[in-house]
Amino acid sequence: MSDCKTLGIGLAGFGTVGSGVWNTIEKNGELISERTGKDVSLGITKILVRDRNKTRATKSAVPKEILTTDWHELVQDPSVDIVVELIGGTTDAFEIVAASLLAKKPVVTGNKALLAERGVELFAISRKMATPIFFEAAIAGGIPIVKTVQDSFVGNQIHSFTGIINGTSNYILEQMTLRGIDYPTALQEAQDLGYAEADPALDVNGWDAAHKAILLATLAYGFPIDPQNIYVTGIEQVRPADINFSKSLGYVIKLLAIVRERECGAVELRVQPSFISNKHILAAVNGVFNAVAVNADAAGESLFYGAGAGQGPTASSVVADLVEAARAFTHTSRHRGFLPYRESGTLVPIEETTTAYYVRLDVTDQIGVVASIANVLAKHEIGISGTHSPVDSTNPDAEFVDMVFLLHTCPFGQLTKALQEIEALDCINSAPVVFRIENLG
Ligand code: NAP
Ligand code: HSE
Repeated sequence: MSDCKTLGIGLAGFGTVGSGVWNTIEKNGELISERTGKDVSLGITKILVRDRNKTRATKSAVPKEILTTDWHELVQDPSVDIVVELIGGTTDAFEIVAASLLAKKPVVTGNKALLAERGVELFAISRKMATPIFFEAAIAGGIPIVKTVQDSFVGNQIHSFTGIINGTSNYILEQMTLRGIDYPTALQEAQDLGYAEADPALDVNGWDAAHKAILLATLAYGFPIDPQNIYVTGIEQVRPADINFSKSLGYVIKLLAIVRERECGAVELRVQPSFISNKHILAAVNGVFNAVAVNADAAGESLFYGAGAGQGPTASSVVADLVEAARAFTHTSRHRGFLPYRESGTLVPIEETTTAYYVRLDVTDQIGVVASIANVLAKHEIGISGTHSPVDSTNPDAEFVDMVFLLHTCPFGQLTKALQEIEALDCINSAPVVFRIENLG
């Protein structure tokens, strides 16, 4: 008689990632079981969906009787030992995770929005119930960065993370650069490839990367961070002209997440499209790939690189967490999560963060326009390192033109004040577009 225990998985969500988890367990189940421990195997016993009749693109057939549209049924099912939350969003997902923890069922989730917005509440329940939440898939898809920060860097003070941590926006930027396709076409491709969020606005407005950056900062610095207190802009404003201009100057544009602890202990946390040198290693991170550069006091510089989104890579992280959750049933395992060793901490106000800048202005082409803009910049003591007005060869006599300024390093607050004045000039037709120029060393 076998004394092997099958742990039942309740899979909440059976879209891109959920079906990837099914496929991975189908394909590598035996191997996973051997690695989990001889006495344990994993089996999916219940699946939550919105539509039971939808055709599922899994490699093997899914018995219809294990599908449900009622999450209570999934959480309460006695065959479910571990709950995997892959529906996304912060409402139903919150209810499912909270109810699972209260039922003492460990949770695995890839939902960064949920943890960044409501993680403090959920980890409080997790601690109270001594029931873990695992979330490797929530940051950078297939890259094992959560366990790395929690375990491998546990003896380090982490100085900074510099990350390209949204696959969709990185894919869009690369496709616009390489193939010259427009932004909506590139976004549609990213959606078709299963990279984008159900609401792709989160990918392109920077908030998906911001959610991940909040999780990284919380792991490293141990205090809760209110998303309302961080500065986020996305790639929606990047135009082919910006890409061409960055190329001609030896830069590439990347959506960068910067998490950096200052000596005073305050943490700088921001997400913005940024010019980085085309010679920097992060410039070679293209398509759906992500990279997280970690600077830590003992380990020094490390770079973690891999697929940041998509079915297989994300399922790989979910399954890794499932194995860890399963091991916790049979072997003693420490409790994980955000490690709240500080009640509170300080974020650096965005006005005090300092870089050089690329500013694009939509100006009326008239005599004196450069001088009037330069006057305002001079008044605010902001130096200009270059200016350029790319001529539209299809319309050389255009009345409205793009004018770009490369500006020397100054605090963001100083730049913002100058730009408010510039925007009010008669010759300026819309809000200035600002990207950071990051000197990553
Ligand atoms: P998805 O393809 O949109 O799948 C969502 C699944 O959840 C679908 O099966 C849907 O059911 C089900 N669902 C949604 N809302 C529901 C509700 N209220 N009640 C019951 N079922 C519901 O999403 P995904 O790309 O797999 O992403 C899932 C999660 O993983 C998200 O939190 C996402 O941020 C995260 N994530 C995704 C990736 C990626 O590359 N895609 C990477 C890392 C993390 P139907 O199938 O019946 O519509
Ligand atoms: N939509 C996300 C991305 C999925 O494109 O990076 C991975 O978290």
